[in-house]
Amino acid sequence: MRVLLALLLLLLLRSAEPRRRQRSGAGEEAARGRVRGRGRAGVNRRQTTQCKEYEEAGEKYLDCQDRQLTTVMQDWPTDIHHLLLARNKIQILRDNMFSQFTQLKSLDLQQNHISLVEERAFSGLSQLNTLLLQHNSLKSASEEVLLPLPRLTYLRIYDNPWHCHCSLDSLIRTIQVPSNRNLGNYAKCAEPLSMKGQKLKNINVDTLCVDSRPGGDRQGGGGGQRPPPIRPKMDATSMCYTYMLPRPHLDCSNKDLKSIPTDLPSDIVKMDLSRNTIKHLRPKQFLLSKDLKQLNLSNNSLQKIETAAFAGLLYLREMDLSNNSLQYFQYGVLEDLYFLRKLSLEHNPWVCDYSIHYLVYWLKHHPGVSYSGLVCSYPPEFRGWRVEDYVKTYNGECPKDKQTNLEIGPGVPGGENEAQEVVGETEGQGELPQPIQEKPNTIEIIRLN
Ligand SMILES: *[C@@H]1O[C@H](CO)[C@@H](O)[C@H](O)[C@H]1NC(C)=O
Ligand SMILES: *[C@@H]1O[C@H](CO)[C@@H](O)[C@H](O)[C@H]1NC(C)=O
Ligand SMILES: *[C@@H]1O[C@H](CO)[C@@H](O)[C@H](O)[C@H]1NC(C)=O
Repeated sequence: MRVLLALLLLLLLRSAEPRRRQRSGAGEEAARGRVRGRGRAGVNRRQTTQCKEYEEAGEKYLDCQDRQLTTVMQDWPTDIHHLLLARNKIQILRDNMFSQFTQLKSLDLQQNHISLVEERAFSGLSQLNTLLLQHNSLKSASEEVLLPLPRLTYLRIYDNPWHCHCSLDSLIRTIQVPSNRNLGNYAKCAEPLSMKGQKLKNINVDTLCVDSRPGGDRQGGGGGQRPPPIRPKMDATSMCYTYMLPRPHLDCSNKDLKSIPTDLPSDIVKMDLSRNTIKHLRPKQFLLSKDLKQLNLSNNSLQKIETAAFAGLLYLREMDLSNNSLQYFQYGVLEDLYFLRKLSLEHNPWVCDYSIHYLVYWLKHHPGVSYSGLVCSYPPEFRGWRVEDYVKTYNGECPKDKQTNLEIGPGVPGGENEAQEVVGETEGQGELPQPIQEKPNTIEIIRLN
């Protein structure tokens, strides 16, 4: 899907690409209309189409993503604050490559083919705050490359095949300085085998340049080589894409994930885990994602959400759980979500028996949450009913009230009636035919109220 879209876009861009002779602000629009598709392919062909330039909140962006670029162009505006170069074909960052962009605050070079950064590649970028180099082919780099960047606060270099040898010593020391807490997180060694999978943040630098003899034993332990510490686990930072702009966003959609990845980055605001095959949410898997505002778990195979699965998501505003296999919510699952405003529940096989009551009561007690898709699919006599209506019959409203409610129709969040129901719950049930086997646990109901 993504590939197809990218291809389509490329074709579109290609065919619409104006073969400009001169570039000057006003002439451009006219040129775009006049000359079309006439350019001889091949000889000295311009490497790229125009980038997209825009302004947001007083800052200038130049979006040159997905354009097959191998370097920056001399005719780009220089007064930009954010340069987006993700998903191009850059291989080498040359000395002074960006030095004309003196106001640059962020530079996104992720998903290129960068294998070499020359020492003065970033010189002149005295305002740069964010540098994204993840998903490239870097094996080594020295601390020198960061020296021209006094303001650097965020550096992303994960999913590069770092060789943890002596040459990486100075860079590792820099990112391990405690005040550099957002530099180089999640980056891991790919070599040597004995260090594979270890985080640059955590490795013991003192051993890097000491022990260069092959097979040298550091700990003075017995003869045999230790097995490499490779853990087969899902790792968000190498499998998914992270974007810093316009706001920190983790895209793990359609990645064949079977569980929530470990190592979820902590500063993400929007997380897309949709279209995977995640079945089970365990406690505290989002505990570090404390800034998360939007979480998309749509189109998974969710059957079970354990209590405390959403612990720590204090600021979550929007959650999409549609297209899963959820039948009910376990008691307490929603307790951490103080600021939830939108909950999508469509296309789940909600079971209308007593176990669904927790969800309904929680929603009732959080009227600020707008939810959708809460429809019974089991047992057969309630299939297609709104779950709220089912709960009303369960609570034993008199048939006349029920009639009126149904006439008011779905989507009307009843006020007084619902208040009565909560009271009704603790008193007599069993006036109407009970649709379910289990008897409610009165103690739980009192806690809920
Ligand atoms: C969640 O992801 C699905 C599938 O990718 C998408 O259709 C849906 O709009 C997303 N939901 C939200 C709230 O963005
Ligand atoms: C969601 O899953 C359903 C059923 O597996 C599938 O038909 C649908 O195309 C998926 N939607 C997306 C957006 O992937
Ligand atoms: C959810 O599943 C339904 C039925 O399988 C499908 O029609 C719909 O496109 C899916 N929605 C999303 C967002 O994938």
